[in-house]
Amino acid sequence: MSQVDTPPEDFVRSSKARGDPLLSVENLTKRFPIKRGVVFQKEVAAVQAVEDVTFAFFPGETLGLVGESGCGKSTTARLVLKLIEASGGKIMFDGQDITNLSRRDMRPIRREAQMIFQDPYASLNPRQTVGSIIGTPYRIHKTEGETKKKVQDLMDRVGLNPEHYNRYSHEFSGGQRQRIGVARALALRPKLIVCDEPVSALDVSIQAQVLNLLEDLQEEFKLTYLFISHDLGVVRHVSDRIAVMYLGHIVELATADELYNNPKHPYTAALLSAVPKGAATAQLTDRIVLEGDVPSPVNPPSGCVFHPRCPKAMTLTGGNGVPDNCREGFPPMGQVSENHFCACWYPLEKGEKLHRAAHQ
Ligand SMILES: Nc1ncnc2c1ncn2[C@@H]1O[C@H](COP(=O)(O)OP(=O)(O)O)[C@@H](O)[C@H]1O
Ligand SMILES: [Mg+2]
Repeated sequence: MSQVDTPPEDFVRSSKARGDPLLSVENLTKRFPIKRGVVFQKEVAAVQAVEDVTFAFFPGETLGLVGESGCGKSTTARLVLKLIEASGGKIMFDGQDITNLSRRDMRPIRREAQMIFQDPYASLNPRQTVGSIIGTPYRIHKTEGETKKKVQDLMDRVGLNPEHYNRYSHEFSGGQRQRIGVARALALRPKLIVCDEPVSALDVSIQAQVLNLLEDLQEEFKLTYLFISHDLGVVRHVSDRIAVMYLGHIVELATADELYNNPKHPYTAALLSAVPKGAATAQLTDRIVLEGDVPSPVNPPSGCVFHPRCPKAMTLTGGNGVPDNCREGFPPMGQVSENHFCACWYPLEKGEKLHRAAHQ
């Protein structure tokens, strides 16, 4: 038996109550090489976009993935759908190891796992008609039956007027375009939809409509979502469980209520404190301002990558920097309770207040 603190299997198994995971990743890592040189390109450094990420999600569930811009959310999304190759780690989909599948062998899986993108303006070709955009998956996968009828049924289902079949995508508003993206993702009746910031580019008034649509479709079509957002307010609204990401690492993972009411990682607490009032947790009414920007993933901090900005680490030594273990070793993922995991040397106590901004 391995003596590792919390082996990945345990981490994955924690919510086994719902059967086998639809998708799981273990120690997933992605480094983008930075090359220099005109003739012979030499790798001089690497962007450490995703580091040793392990999680699983279950049929019918929504797993939220939240974190500031640049922390590796979109890279994780593209990795799990194998739109880009991982540098390391393992990806299982529906009981099958897909880590090393060829493009050809991935084809049947592509039908089952779709993606909705952040920017409905950039992700739809303005010179294509709606009918052609939503019908593309049918043509690629050569499905049976009349495409036009199927597309119009889908348009109707996502709240678009089927008579607008021949209109161009640039004739639609942002919210309507995102509905086109949803219909396209839904076309082949997938099991999984990865939603990468699906409402971040939309007006707040439109966001709720699209979120409600996604929730209705989830129930109707028994969909599983990986739902990505930098906005913990939005993620909390739709997720069963939430994974919090910082600089390529998952630092906390818990059910939405547990994460919200009992955050253990100082980074989670800081994110929560920025959620608009009324939605904020009782014990965290003061906004915790994190000092500085997210450090560069080319040269991430030693030890716990959050330590230079951690409001808790700063307080532990009475103003003499941060504790040695925060600077020296990345904390292992520890189990807080059945469905709650946190990677921090000094996790917060229940109700512990973190008022202080990181020191100046
Ligand atoms: N194709 C790429 N080449 C080099 N660096 C990349 C590439 N894609 C993403 N990155 C870098 O990886 C890090 C994580 O990016 P991303 O996954 O897009 O974050 P998020 O979606 O959380 O904003 C960022 O530093 C980003 O600049
Ligand atoms: Mg992104």
